[in-house]
Amino acid sequence: MKMLCSESIFNTKYITLIMSDREEILRVEGLKAFYATPRGLLKAVNDISFTIYKGESVGIFGESGAGKSSIALAIMGVFNKQAKMFVAARGNDEMKRLWSLKEKALKKKLTSKDMGEELPGVEGHIWFKGEDLLALDEKEYRKIRGNEITYVPQASRTSMNPYTEIDIQTAEALWAHDEDDILWEKEVLRRVLIALDLVEIADVDIRRKLKPSEFSMGEDQRILIAMALIMNPVLMIADEPTTAVDVGVQKRVMEAIQLVRDKLELAMLLISNDQGLIAQTTDKVGVMSAGHLLEFGDTLTVMKRPGHPFTRAFIMSNPPMHLIRKIREKGLKIRGIPGKVPDMVELPSGCPFHPRCEYVVEKCREIKPDYREVEKGHWVMCHRFEELPEFEL
Ligand SMILES: Nc1ncnc2c1ncn2[C@@H]1O[C@H](COP(=O)(O)OP(=O)(O)O)[C@@H](O)[C@H]1O
Ligand code: SF4
Ligand SMILES: [Mg+2]
Repeated sequence: MKMLCSESIFNTKYITLIMSDREEILRVEGLKAFYATPRGLLKAVNDISFTIYKGESVGIFGESGAGKSSIALAIMGVFNKQAKMFVAARGNDEMKRLWSLKEKALKKKLTSKDMGEELPGVEGHIWFKGEDLLALDEKEYRKIRGNEITYVPQASRTSMNPYTEIDIQTAEALWAHDEDDILWEKEVLRRVLIALDLVEIADVDIRRKLKPSEFSMGEDQRILIAMALIMNPVLMIADEPTTAVDVGVQKRVMEAIQLVRDKLELAMLLISNDQGLIAQTTDKVGVMSAGHLLEFGDTLTVMKRPGHPFTRAFIMSNPPMHLIRKIREKGLKIRGIPGKVPDMVELPSGCPFHPRCEYVVEKCREIKPDYREVEKGHWVMCHRFEELPEFEL
């Protein structure tokens, strides 16, 4: 096992960089990600497009089962592997046939359309610094995953090894990418301390030798963020970093994400159904339901003046504390979204939200709405945006 020897502490901080204007880091274009299931293809991600620029934090906000994590898996290049794993273990003949067809298509660089039927797995484009990640092979992807693109798992003790000191765990990504064994121990320690210091773990020079159980839940999540930062990534993806932790811890996790945002010029993709977290830590947000991105725009606009009936209903179904009074003053009601979450194997015709929408008309049932820019940078997928009642929180 590698060891990190005790050394004097470097008080180095990451230098706050000045945001350069609009260098594109990630462009997701027409992304699809489908699972093969015994009932047919489950369309978790349908034609989704968005861009993240340097230093920008983009949120994906939406109800559980909407397809948010599937987007993260696709960007990390592990969607196909995870989706296939279940099929190999418990899939039926049809599911196996579809995956073997998909593998043929991948080898020949063909799409579902070329193959004449819809296939499971990922399709579309994920441009990362100008390179299409979906065109990379696994060896090439491995150089980027956990290095330039890092992932912060959900806050949980199971995301860490309970028996290993946190400095060793934080250093693991460095060692994993140090194929030629060129990193000096001293340099590894220096970078570990910088990362832990960055997320403000107190007394890091002593406490780095402790095991995860000796830290609080909020500190755990911050250590997970430090682990993701150690490689000095260009893009950090955090999936539900505040789910499964209590309100006090949520606040501290949120602060840690804000800290990272303020100190580093990082692009961030933050996946959550926590409105408070999205509102406080993202610049732009995409709202998802039933595998579709229904609205996208700057976070303040989308949260204050949501344009899509789903976004309005979703916010009203579980508003954050600070909005509850405002909602009452406006005479609005806090209530759940009526109806059932759509079955993504048999998605509704037309607008994916139509079975639950209070503004539905015939056209909504028949024609899928275009994704329209209703004001600069604010996109809404709804036929009736102009006819909807005013809504402001
Ligand atoms: N390995 C899998 N095989 C089949 N279906 C899956 C698998 N993983 C997730 N799903 C389904 O895909 C849909 C989207 O899931 P997910 O991306 O995890 O949504 P979210 O993160 O928004 O909760 C859900 O209906 C979920 O049940
Ligand atoms: S397109 Fe129709 S059903 Fe869909 S959100 Fe708009 S009004 Fe509702
Ligand atoms: Mg998820």
